[in-house]
Amino acid sequence: MSVLDTAKARSSVRAYTEQTVEEEKLQKILEAAHVAPTAANMQPVRLVVVRSKEGLLAVSKSANIYGATVAVVVCADKSKAWTRPFDGMVTTDIDATILTDHMMLTATDLGLGSVWICYFNPDVLKQGLNLPRNLEPINILALGYSAEPKADKERHSQTRIAMDELVQYK
Ligand SMILES: Cc1cc2nc3c(=O)[nH]c(=O)nc-3n(C[C@H](O)[C@H](O)[C@H](O)COP(=O)(O)O)c2cc1C
Repeated sequence: MSVLDTAKARSSVRAYTEQTVEEEKLQKILEAAHVAPTAANMQPVRLVVVRSKEGLLAVSKSANIYGATVAVVVCADKSKAWTRPFDGMVTTDIDATILTDHMMLTATDLGLGSVWICYFNPDVLKQGLNLPRNLEPINILALGYSAEPKADKERHSQTRIAMDELVQYK
């Protein structure tokens, strides 16, 4: 599949089967995160892969992960991220998000479902996973085998704003 075809095939999956994600597939997803770019190559992101029953229960106390069998908690250390000198903007969230997107598209390519989750209680998550103080959870990527019918690849003309609203040329 081309990257565009993969992007069109991806959709948020909010129901999963109990089928375990194969180790090989998980490692490919993590490799996609590993090769992702970060600002000035500062690499402030750290991934916590949660797949034990206890771990998933802890994550579920902070967020709805829809019965996913893997939750990758994408964290970052602000002090390690690049800062733009003009206005002090720190790229932590951007860096974490690029890694998340790389993983999400790779999951689709491997036939897995996923959903990106930001609706979580950070304090509950940090405590539940015993995250070190320097790590801020930014995204959760829930992964697993979808229990939903496949989304229509052509749905975006209905579910997204029009191209001419999205894009302007100057
Ligand atoms: C930054 C971000 C945060 C999101 N947070 C959540 C979330 O907490 N829970 C959830 O069910 N979906 C979440 N989503 C999924 C979006 O709701 C979904 O991507 C959007 O509605 C478009 O649908 P699609 O992914 O099926 O194309 C999030 C997506 C993004 C990009």
